[in-house]
Amino acid sequence: MTEKLSLVVHRLERETPDALLIYFRSEEISSFVPGQFLTLMVSINGQSYRRSYSIFTDPAELPTLGVCVKRLPGGLVSNHLLDNLHEGDRLDVLPPYGNFALDPAMSTLPPVVLVGAGSGITPLFSMLSMALRHPSAPHILLLYGSRSAEEVIFGKALNRLQDENPQRLQVVHCLSRSLHGQESLKGLLHHGRIDTTVLAQHLSNREASFYLCGPEGLVHDTEHWLQAQGVASHRIHKELFFQSSPKVEAPSPTPSSVDDDPGALPVVTLKVDGKVYEFAVEPGRYILETALEQGIDLPYACTMGVCGMCRAKKISGEMFIGDQEAISASEIASGACLTCVGRPLSNRLVIDYDVPN
Ligand SMILES: Cc1cc2nc3c(=O)[nH]c(=O)nc-3n(C[C@H](O)[C@H](O)[C@H](O)COP(=O)(O)OP(=O)(O)OC[C@H]3O[C@@H](n4cnc5c(N)ncnc54)[C@H](O)[C@@H]3O)c2cc1C
Ligand code: FES
Repeated sequence: MTEKLSLVVHRLERETPDALLIYFRSEEISSFVPGQFLTLMVSINGQSYRRSYSIFTDPAELPTLGVCVKRLPGGLVSNHLLDNLHEGDRLDVLPPYGNFALDPAMSTLPPVVLVGAGSGITPLFSMLSMALRHPSAPHILLLYGSRSAEEVIFGKALNRLQDENPQRLQVVHCLSRSLHGQESLKGLLHHGRIDTTVLAQHLSNREASFYLCGPEGLVHDTEHWLQAQGVASHRIHKELFFQSSPKVEAPSPTPSSVDDDPGALPVVTLKVDGKVYEFAVEPGRYILETALEQGIDLPYACTMGVCGMCRAKKISGEMFIGDQEAISASEIASGACLTCVGRPLSNRLVIDYDVPN
């Protein structure tokens, strides 16, 4: 199910003091949509960890493709990659995935507004590069928040793209801490975070398509502001890298829902790759973690309801889905579920990974 690729690190570039560009060359990846991510399976002290990283390159650059890893203070995998990865190393990688994607129908797209901060620029940069290559692409506005000029990821490339596309691209850099080195950046400059004042100043077109990626606060605040301005939900696309809100506790199945035996545990039947597995889920445990403990190979990455890789279809039974950002209420209503934040709420629950949904 989890088709792993073994990719060689072709080139490494230090983009900023805390951001590393990792380039792969892969004939096995023949396409991806700007906005999608790769999941790296990184082995540290004999243990494998999965972390997703958005692709920042343009599909036109295939078979070369790259991800950008930003150091997270105290972060296990990001620090390991920045400090220990070498050109020529091999990494297990899950193929491109994700629904945060720029509509490829460029000629019919309305103006595009990209809002991001920090490493949130990575999927937006891929979108930007692809769109500007297209002769009938719409006008693009990028609002990009960084702490200082030194920390602006893709600063030089954004300067170049603005020079090449003066009528089609506008970049607004928002520097929250220091203006030192600001002269190295082209475009408009704002001292401070991306806040509602900045949004009100620059986002006047309610008919644009909005793509948001960055810290939770920025993404949620921008989304709420846009909604309050009357922007239709289908025009707002967002990607979160992390969710800090605690997983909401699921109500325990009532004894009557677990056969007539108050001590019985709910049983999940899980279909994947044509095989059928059946296992009981302890109270307070999630379906994905229980399945992995049973040695069942399932697709997943973040385990916190943001990447969408553990998406499956609920065929029958009742299920609790905790805090998540990867599927919409209407998708849930039509049976989509995430097993990483999902718990059974009925004595029998059937979930199918093989049914498209
Ligand atoms: C779809 C997707 C795309 C992503 N794309 C990128 C990308 O292009 N570039 C990039 O650098 N990262 C990206 N990430 C984040 C990345 O997957 C890791 O979460 C990040 O590198 C931290 O991993 P770590 O092992 O260093 O930190 P961990 O050891 O997992 O975490 C350390 C501490 O920080 C908290 N934490 C974990 N992740 C974050 C976060 N992102 N923000 C704030 N706090 C956090 C944890 O709760 C923990 O307390 C993406 C994540 C997703 C889901
Ligand atoms: S593993 Fe990422 S949403 Fe479930």
